[in-house]
Amino acid sequence: MELKITPVAKGEKIEFKNPTKFYEAIGGEEGMKRLMYDFYDRIYESDIAHFFPQDEDEFEKVKEKNTRFFIQICGGPKVYDEADGMDLNEYMIRLHDEFSINEKARIEWLGTMKEALDNVKDLDEEAKAEFWDYLENFSKLTVNSFSDGSTYYASYTQAIDKSAN
Ligand code: HEM
Repeated sequence: MELKITPVAKGEKIEFKNPTKFYEAIGGEEGMKRLMYDFYDRIYESDIAHFFPQDEDEFEKVKEKNTRFFIQICGGPKVYDEADGMDLNEYMIRLHDEFSINEKARIEWLGTMKEALDNVKDLDEEAKAEFWDYLENFSKLTVNSFSDGSTYYASYTQAIDKSAN
C-alpha cells in the first residue's frame, strides 16, 4: 500500500480524524511504544535530528511523552496529561509553534514515520491507512515557515476535526 504525501498550502483548511483502530492494531501500549521508540531512533539519524534534544535523558522524555500522546489520540487510554484540559490536537499544534517547521521538515518527519511503520510486521492495512491519513493531514498544521520567507501559525479554527472522541 502506498502512503501518499500531499503538499501543504499556507492557511488552507485541514480536515483530519483521530485514528480509532490503530491502537489495537499496533498491539496496544507495548506495540505503540515499540513503534514510537523506533521512530525516534530513526529521527536521530534523519535530517531533522537537530530539532530535537541532543541530551540523552531529554531525548528519553520526548520518546516517552510522544508514546503517551499517540496512545491517547489513537483510541487508547487517556494517559497524556500535558494538555491540561485543552483539546489534544489544538495543544499539539501550539506546542510546535516554538520550532521553525517547513515543508521539507514535515516531509522528513513523515518519511521517517513511514520507515518505522513499514518495519512493523503484520500490521492491519486498514488501520495503517487510517493512521497515515491522520498524520499526513495533521502534520500540515505543524508547518509554520514557508518558502517565501513568511511564517504562518495554523489557527485551530482552520482545522476541521472530524473525530468523534
Ligand atoms: C502528525 C504530525 C505531528 C505530531 C502528531 C507530532 C507530535 C508530537 C508530540 C506528541 C510531541 C511531544 C510533545 C510533548 O512534549 O509532550 C512532539 C514534539 C516535537 N515535535 Fe512533533 N509532531 C508532529 C509533527 C512534527 C514535525 C513535522 C516536526 C518537524 C520537525 C516536529 C517536531 C517536533 C519537535 C522539535 C518536538 C519537541 C521536542 C522537544 O521536546 O524538544 N513534529 N511532537
